Amino acid sequence: MDESSPILLFDSGVGGLTVYDALRQTLPQAPVIYVADLAGLPYGTKSEAQIAARVSGLLGRLAERFQPRLACIACNTASTIALGMVRDVLEIPVVGTVPAIKPAAALTQTGTIGLVGTQATIRQAYVDNLEAAFAGGKRLLRVAAPELVAAAEAKLRGKPVDPALIADVHARLIAMPGGDAIDTLVLACTHFPLLADELAQAFGPEVQQVDGAKGIARRIANLLDGQAFEAPLPNRFIVTGPVSDADGLADALTRRGFSAAEAF
Ligand code: DGL
Repeated sequence: MDESSPILLFDSGVGGLTVYDALRQTLPQAPVIYVADLAGLPYGTKSEAQIAARVSGLLGRLAERFQPRLACIACNTASTIALGMVRDVLEIPVVGTVPAIKPAAALTQTGTIGLVGTQATIRQAYVDNLEAAFAGGKRLLRVAAPELVAAAEAKLRGKPVDPALIADVHARLIAMPGGDAIDTLVLACTHFPLLADELAQAFGPEVQQVDGAKGIARRIANLLDGQAFEAPLPNRFIVTGPVSDADGLADALTRRGFSAAEAF
């Protein structure tokens, strides 16, 4: 194993940085190449076929170019649709990001869990299967919030978040049958932990937010246990499409130890 071989982290946009942040806590010495498919953003409004083709094609090209030791799809939408396909294409371990229904089911006291994701994620059989396996006997209420993906992208570029967007997501969940008993909220899109403060304001302190970032970081660390790293910091942040789409992200990237955004 080449000690400088990176971990490849992939998302449609900046959402996967929430996984990156957890990974840096767990494996600070590991070199990371983060790829934001800004030319394909958002995934959540696309069809299963579009997402599967785009994600598996792109990851194949990325793996060839960067020779990573492991790839992580830091996106619930892409993972719930294309994880199996990507594993078939790549010859390295591939870690996915799937809605944290299992930990949420263990935490809820009322038995009612809210789940916020993209349109594509919330309709996946993958989510039905997680619900059946881990949340039997609980109530899982799902809403799609594509507008929060755009809000998280804007927030990381220094723009304010419109509280009405968050209030609307809260109102739609609470209005569902049994919704007023929600005490646990699954952030089933990697963009949404970037809005944790705004969500906490809308839902109140009694609703606990759950996401998969720390669990994914632990999983990656387990898979790479015993491997040596030579971390040529700064890490790299790469975008598909024009690099100007990353305008406004410089602060967020510098703070996280990345060099300036590069085009793929
Ligand atoms: N970050 C992605 C996820 O976790 C979705 C954003 C998008 O719609 O592209 O689902």
